[in-house]
Amino acid sequence: MCIFCILGIAILLWLLHIYMTGGVCKIKKDLSGKVVFITGANTGIGKDTALQLGNMNATIVIACRDTIKGQLVLDQLNKITQAYLIKLDLSCLNSVRQCVEDFKKLNIPQIDILINNAGVMAPQTYKTTKQSYELQFGTNHLGHFLLTELLIPYLKAAEQSRVVNVSSLAHRHSNLNFKDINLAQYANSKLWSIKYSPLAYGNSKLCNILHAMEISKRHGIKACSLHPGAVRTELMREVVQNPILNVVLKLSTVFYFLLSKSSLQGAQTTLQCALEDYDKLVDGGYYSDCKLKQPQNTNKQLAEKLWEFSAEKLRFYLEK
Ligand SMILES: NC(=O)c1ccc[n+]([C@@H]2O[C@H](COP(=O)([O-])OP(=O)(O)OC[C@H]3O[C@@H](n4cnc5c(N)ncnc54)[C@H](OP(=O)(O)O)[C@@H]3O)[C@@H](O)[C@H]2O)c1
Ligand SMILES: *[C@@H]1O[C@H](CO)[C@@H](O)[C@H](O)[C@H]1NC(C)=O
Ligand SMILES: *[C@@H]1O[C@H](CO)[C@@H](O)[C@H](O)[C@H]1NC(C)=O
Repeated sequence: MCIFCILGIAILLWLLHIYMTGGVCKIKKDLSGKVVFITGANTGIGKDTALQLGNMNATIVIACRDTIKGQLVLDQLNKITQAYLIKLDLSCLNSVRQCVEDFKKLNIPQIDILINNAGVMAPQTYKTTKQSYELQFGTNHLGHFLLTELLIPYLKAAEQSRVVNVSSLAHRHSNLNFKDINLAQYANSKLWSIKYSPLAYGNSKLCNILHAMEISKRHGIKACSLHPGAVRTELMREVVQNPILNVVLKLSTVFYFLLSKSSLQGAQTTLQCALEDYDKLVDGGYYSDCKLKQPQNTNKQLAEKLWEFSAEKLRFYLEK
């Protein structure tokens, strides 16, 4: 009798797994002559996105912090297409500027698709960027904001360019407060804080959506954001350093596998946003499982406010 129970449960779990891995991008295009610029492509979702778009003949520029890991991906890309590697540390605004300087030296006239993919999640303790912003807001949002602004001339030089922001479902757990964007009350927390890390990550991912909503208004360039799903990547690298959370994760390995996507599956919604016909791509839209979805905690005023806040904070780096 119980054999059937076990079998039934196994089938249910498998169906759940298939549901969780959902969403496949069915669009294939010849991207010859098109240029894709993607951040954080040395591993995870970004790496698979770069390889898939490389397979479609796009010229790929990967901007990576760890360039040793980046070189390995560049070697793979060079076998299939023209590709370049530039160093980029989004947690340092000078590095963002240098990255754009290095891009200029490549003499590539335009960028057709900018994919803001790099991201950091849930650091062990409260951490900050080089310019003293909370790490997740500073890296995931401010770094990408500056990068996008500095690359606007190249996006404008392409005929129908777009910006694709890899956000997260975690944007729902957010509470943006411009008076305390760095969540200063957690600055002295020494242990991994259930209050600090998820909130700061959620806030930074909300910013990615709001940023996308505002880009086209400001620059006339289409932009969208997306949730890739729960994906097995190195994103948990900070979380597993906590011994307790590490044990919890190890114990739930089977469930983690059942409930998550491979990085190639995780790249599908990014690919959908990158490849969707220009006229069909919903400007400022938020996608998940390759479909348009409704994000939470967003509104036009907030998007506008974030833009002005970010531009003000970055004024020095934008004008220099
Ligand atoms: N995995 C998920 O379940 C999930 C869910 C929702 C959203 N996302 C989003 O998906 C995106 C890709 O993440 P992933 O899952 O592929 O994670 P991952 O394997 O950890 O990759 C993250 C990438 O971001 C780069 N990065 C981190 N900090 C950086 C910095 N300061 N400057 C430059 N690059 C930096 C990493 O480069 P280094 O190797 O050099 O550190 C790496 O290439 C992120 O934006 C993440 O928030 C992921
Ligand atoms: C890429 O280019 C090659 C050579 O021009 C061509 O044969 C191939 O079909 C192209 N790939 C795609 C996905 O269009
Ligand atoms: C992506 O996110 C960055 C940082 O939040 C933002 O500056 C940019 O406008 C966003 N672009 C899109 C298309 O979402």
